[in-house]
Amino acid sequence: MNKTLQKYRKKSGTSTKTDSFVHSLNVNRMAKTQVFTTVKSLQNHLSEVAKNRTVGFVPTMGALHAGHVSLVEASAEQCDFTVVSIFVNPTQFNNASDLEKYPRNFEKDIALLEATTETIVFAPTVEEIYPEGHQPATMKLGRVAEIMEGEFRPGHFDGVVEVVYRFLEIVQPTHTFFGEKDLQQLSIIKRMAKEFDLSVEVVGCQTHRLEGGLAASSRNERLTEDQKGKALILFQSLDRVRKEKEQYSPREAREKVKEWFQDSELELEYIEFVDATTFEDVTEWTSNTHGCIAAFAGEVRLLDNISMT
Ligand code: PAF
Repeated sequence: MNKTLQKYRKKSGTSTKTDSFVHSLNVNRMAKTQVFTTVKSLQNHLSEVAKNRTVGFVPTMGALHAGHVSLVEASAEQCDFTVVSIFVNPTQFNNASDLEKYPRNFEKDIALLEATTETIVFAPTVEEIYPEGHQPATMKLGRVAEIMEGEFRPGHFDGVVEVVYRFLEIVQPTHTFFGEKDLQQLSIIKRMAKEFDLSVEVVGCQTHRLEGGLAASSRNERLTEDQKGKALILFQSLDRVRKEKEQYSPREAREKVKEWFQDSELELEYIEFVDATTFEDVTEWTSNTHGCIAAFAGEVRLLDNISMT
């Protein structure tokens, strides 16, 4: 069993008393949110309501923000109804303190969903997702999982494959929605669907950006206002390379970005220009080149990517 999961199990030891409830907020409720906490209760409900209907699935780790809302909205537009999971997956964290500090705010999450559209929320415990004897789905991930996020967060994508496979198995959606901000994740999930011959359409949705271009992320909650301003350098440096790219080769552009970060308070972890399909480094700009970046604002790790066209 994954080490982070082992520790987390010992610590959490929580179990939910009820296995489903209709969430009731006392203020201006706009849409009904039905919350399920066990696989059985969710599947019982879905077996009644999902027959011959399209089911959109939006996996999340909670701390919902405008980016998640845009995924839920895309699902609501394309599918008959939407299931949103809220589950901080221990197996995708290679750093115990990152897992511990990951923002959690269930009440706020439900309020945001209720202000968006009607959804079915699945908020299971760790034991429910990884019962004793659980065998993780595994696949060879290759280069896409060895560079950038894969290099700096070893084992991260194995944990993502494990949990998303498990959720797809439980929910059996017709469509599932992922943000393009996590470009490697999106590519891996598309490959996973092919590898396991899953009958689900994996839909990539545009990165939702806040004022100034900061990519919406749950981790932004941990930033001070000052850090939020300084964090704009991630998007702005990618965007500047995009606009000025005729002046440099991708290799020179990497050095430029490193220079720009030297004048900033953020610590650059990586800057790469890669082919968005093969994830090979590019030596010249193509229509499929993406700039990918990760940096720390204090303890908070942020990432972003944009197309260079
Ligand atoms: O992108 C995320 O928030 C997570 O990696 C996901 C897809 C919900 C799996 O835990």
